[in-house]
Amino acid sequence: MKRITCSQILVVLALMAMSACRDVNKKAIISETAGTNMQTPMESTLQQTNFDTIIDGRAVKLYWLENKNLKMAITNYGGRIVALLTPDQDGNYVDVSIGYSNIKDYLDSAETYFGATIGRVGNRIAKGKFSLDGTEYSVVPNNNENALHGGENGFQDKVWDAEQPDTKTLILRYTSPDMEEGFPGNLTVKVTYSLTDNRAVRMEYEATTDKATVVNLTNHTYFNLNGEGSGSILNHSLQLYADQFTPVDQGLIPTGELKNVKGTPFDFKDFNTIGSRIDEEDRQLAFGGGYDHNFVLNGTKSNGMNHAATVVGDKSGIVMDVYTLEPGIQFYCGNFMDSENTLKSGAKDDYRTAFCLETQHFPDSPNQQGFPSITLRPGEVYHTVSEYKFSFR
Ligand code: BGC
Repeated sequence: MKRITCSQILVVLALMAMSACRDVNKKAIISETAGTNMQTPMESTLQQTNFDTIIDGRAVKLYWLENKNLKMAITNYGGRIVALLTPDQDGNYVDVSIGYSNIKDYLDSAETYFGATIGRVGNRIAKGKFSLDGTEYSVVPNNNENALHGGENGFQDKVWDAEQPDTKTLILRYTSPDMEEGFPGNLTVKVTYSLTDNRAVRMEYEATTDKATVVNLTNHTYFNLNGEGSGSILNHSLQLYADQFTPVDQGLIPTGELKNVKGTPFDFKDFNTIGSRIDEEDRQLAFGGGYDHNFVLNGTKSNGMNHAATVVGDKSGIVMDVYTLEPGIQFYCGNFMDSENTLKSGAKDDYRTAFCLETQHFPDSPNQQGFPSITLRPGEVYHTVSEYKFSFR
């Protein structure tokens, strides 16, 4: 047997210590650079005054949150993330979310969901109809015959009351009146956005009602981890911690089946680029015009939440991990983006230049007996948390 001498062991230990130092030094440099209060070009572009207005008699503003790693701009119009700045390997801030530079563009836009808080019920309800405790309710259809993201005037169009208790937290409140968009019950909603010390954007949702209702809240940020306006997201690598997804019909309503992803283009159990199988002949991809599907999370726990997804920007090396208390996640890859709108970077919202990972209960839950329920009753508290955590490789 070959013997290892003491001096060989010492050399190995010294090399390991040197390489650890290099890593520590690199991280130290990055956090110093990222921690400076210098304005990024995006902060100069996003003038707060361009968001100051009154809508429905309520003041609209742009709020900046900041900690030593992240900077985020949110408007209380629709509870929308307008910009999200995270450092890349070189310590340069990259704006990884899609948005507009002023409130007028949000009001005029044909795409109403950029960065928005979605409610009262995220994703689709078949034909806008559901029944609860024997009463049938109708939500105005706004997506062909179906209701999408809470109907015609969902939470993305509401002015939320805002309170900024400290530099890294924003609390938004909205009370949705009984029968708004057809949903029963006065629903009191609180969304808390915060930036955590471990580089995550945390979204906490709470709601109570005075009548039985249905609730499924989410956030609809469109991400491009190479930076807004930096082209296609098809070379981003994606891993989804989901063995199953919920197949849909032509109108993107789930059939009720939980289908194993094995052997399909929906298998993201190991890293795959978003684009590697997107053009394969597949009925589900044809219905979605690409990926626009709910994945059933395996429940792999991390920090008490389900680890839902990991995405890597191919050009920036920025990594985003998604954690959630929700059972599902909608992966949508910008199939309906159509270059109609000019983003805050000056780029157009071109086809598949952003993707969404919307943490959620499954689409059409009120009509699907086999899916986890989204019914909320008086006396109960709706509570859910999702985190989008950033690092780099
Ligand atoms: C839906 C898509 C829809 C998009 C709108 C997604 O959550 O699943 O079908 O086009 O939102 O931005």
